[in-house]
Amino acid sequence: MKEFPLDFCPNTEGIFAYLNYLVPATRKQILDILIEGLKRMEYRGYDSAGVAFDISEETNNKSAIKLVKKRGKVKELEAALENQNGLSYTKEYDIHCGIAHTRWATHGEPNEVNSHPQRSDENNEFVVVHNGIITNYKDIKAFLEKKGFVFESETDTEVIAKLAKHVFDSDNHEGSFREIIEIVVQQLEGAFALVIMSTHFPGECVATRRGSPLVIGMKSKAKLCTDHIPVFYSKGIGLKQLNEKGDNRGYMAGLAPNRMFSESEYHTVGPEKEVEYFFASDASAIIGHTNQVIYLEDDDVAAVTKGCLTLHRIKRATLGEGGLNNDRKPNLQPSIRKVQTIQLELQQIMKGNYSTFMQKEIFEQPESVVNTMRGRVNFQENKVTLGGLKDYIAEIKRCRRLLFIACGTSFHSAVATRQLLEELTELPVMVELASDFLDRNTPVFRDDVCFFISQSGETADTLMALNYCKKRGALIVGITNTVGSTICRESHCGVHINAGPEIGVASTKAYTSQFISLVMFGLMMCDDRISMQERRKEIIQGLKKLPEQIKEVLAIDDEVKKLAEEMYKEKSLLVMGRGYNYATCLEGALKIKELTYMHSEGILAGELKHGPLALVDKAMPVLFIVTRDGVYSKCMNALQQVKARHGEPVIICNVDDTDTIAHANRHVTVPHTIDCLQGILTVIPMQLLSLHIATLKKCDVDCPRNLAKSVTVA
Ligand code: UD1
Ligand code: MG
Repeated sequence: MKEFPLDFCPNTEGIFAYLNYLVPATRKQILDILIEGLKRMEYRGYDSAGVAFDISEETNNKSAIKLVKKRGKVKELEAALENQNGLSYTKEYDIHCGIAHTRWATHGEPNEVNSHPQRSDENNEFVVVHNGIITNYKDIKAFLEKKGFVFESETDTEVIAKLAKHVFDSDNHEGSFREIIEIVVQQLEGAFALVIMSTHFPGECVATRRGSPLVIGMKSKAKLCTDHIPVFYSKGIGLKQLNEKGDNRGYMAGLAPNRMFSESEYHTVGPEKEVEYFFASDASAIIGHTNQVIYLEDDDVAAVTKGCLTLHRIKRATLGEGGLNNDRKPNLQPSIRKVQTIQLELQQIMKGNYSTFMQKEIFEQPESVVNTMRGRVNFQENKVTLGGLKDYIAEIKRCRRLLFIACGTSFHSAVATRQLLEELTELPVMVELASDFLDRNTPVFRDDVCFFISQSGETADTLMALNYCKKRGALIVGITNTVGSTICRESHCGVHINAGPEIGVASTKAYTSQFISLVMFGLMMCDDRISMQERRKEIIQGLKKLPEQIKEVLAIDDEVKKLAEEMYKEKSLLVMGRGYNYATCLEGALKIKELTYMHSEGILAGELKHGPLALVDKAMPVLFIVTRDGVYSKCMNALQQVKARHGEPVIICNVDDTDTIAHANRHVTVPHTIDCLQGILTVIPMQLLSLHIATLKKCDVDCPRNLAKSVTVA
């Protein structure tokens, strides 16, 4: 069985596009293919959906594109498509292009205008579907607004379509579709996978990616000419040209047309030229049609013209591989993308090769934590900017205390970062469970700053606490994963954690992203404190290494599974630790409870002798978290106490901590990171452990009994 590339399991949104060349299909068939493609990706989670497709015949053969978008499920989009006036569903097309998308809101709330495809103008001259985030969209938007473009959505994506029109118009309509898009994507920062179509280039389509997966499927009755596609290089031009010159000329000037490899296209051989192409962010959408695919790599630009697929690469200065050689001349040696045969069954890849959403979400964490930090942490200059808070930081600094109010896992993210926030802000920090906070009628004042943390942004207890604090005049800050959610709307300001949709009921990647969001807030609060600079730098560099370190932790999955096999018949599990790892104990025990229905308790090791130690004997399963930080020796003391009562704890500790390992019957290790971030790495073995125990006990991992994803009742 073929291994998928590492980036195979994406966490956001779905792209699907279909282009048929000399393969006759009715409108109905084409729309069915597009809708079916979206349905295959529904498991990723989304809040709205849309399609764009050629409608030339209804407009007297003048090239035109129709857009249909809907908030809600793909089913609703499908229904909307069935009720379009004036569209012929039986009309047959020899050549046709359509693009489709399921969106998860990151810029602007989920509604029809913000859904994709996004367009350049009222005539739909350029329409685009996009996965990912364009971090510099505000600069591009400002530039385009000066040129007279009027934006209709709140999305980052809209700049792509409008910039394409601007480049096209500026060059007197001379560039090829691919050349235009190459210029456009060189202005974009962030992460993206894109598919674009245009009324100016009927029957053509351009796709590209950077940091977000995109795969192209090919299908033809005729023999295909090659099992690989050479990639040819285009010379890059920079953003400078756009900003400094700001005039309309010159975009094309920087582009060296490279015709040297013009024979190296993907096409059919023989008299029959018919071919179909499928573009998708996820192979599961393609596999029902063909098993012949090409995985694009970052900065590849794929273009279909007259049924031929060509691949180009954009050169960027940062490009290490094959792109630039020392004297910055284009390296004309083409590399190749192999046409691969996917053999997986549809069932196997529906969840991106994982057996449950929870497993998928645990394994997405190297990627989701990057998305949380993207465009916010500058690792070169050690600067952190949370766009949603920057105008409020001065006010927050003047407050009397910080309150963090949440439930469940979100509450644990506040417990996890409390010590660091106290250190970095030098303010009193209260961490509260929303229900208890309300039960107590806790006094709240105008000069308090209250944070409300919720993955869904709809948690009823948290919302009630929010309203309570708002009435009392406090500044309300939301930390949510869901743009347009109630908490997001009701708060004065806040941070979207950008972890991507979380479908498994037990929260995993949202926790690590909430954790990082709160760390980023702390870092922002002290960026002008000279005495804190060393510490800040250390933390920011620690954040930089996290994605790689998370991958290292995920690599011990098999060891954790063995542990689960030894443990799953137990009745109870105590999880002990202290300091920065205390939150991991609480969160780990919560994961065990909710997924495996086993009794589990997170115990602060400092409290052991005040009661919980009485529980410990030879038969009581104990898990102990000890990492090399300020409370290491205290933890070792507690560990001795447990062992003196004949406890046999499983230890989670740092790699190479031979002293601690010597005390363990069984242990798993995680890489060492800076103390305040260690909880991100220690919680992952707990997520994996609860997943494996639940699987062994045949519990429904994605929907534990009695629980709901979004707790909207108090
Ligand atoms: C914003 C964009 C982001 C883009 C970035 C680049 C949105 C939703 N976000 O991100 O996609 O990449 O600019 O400049 O368009 N807010 C609340 N309550 C909450 C959460 C957020 O009021 O619970 C507010 C924030 O104060 C802010 C807005 O929502 O005004 C967007 O928040 P966030 O997405 O975190 O802001 P940026 O990171 O700047
Ligand atoms: Mg987006």
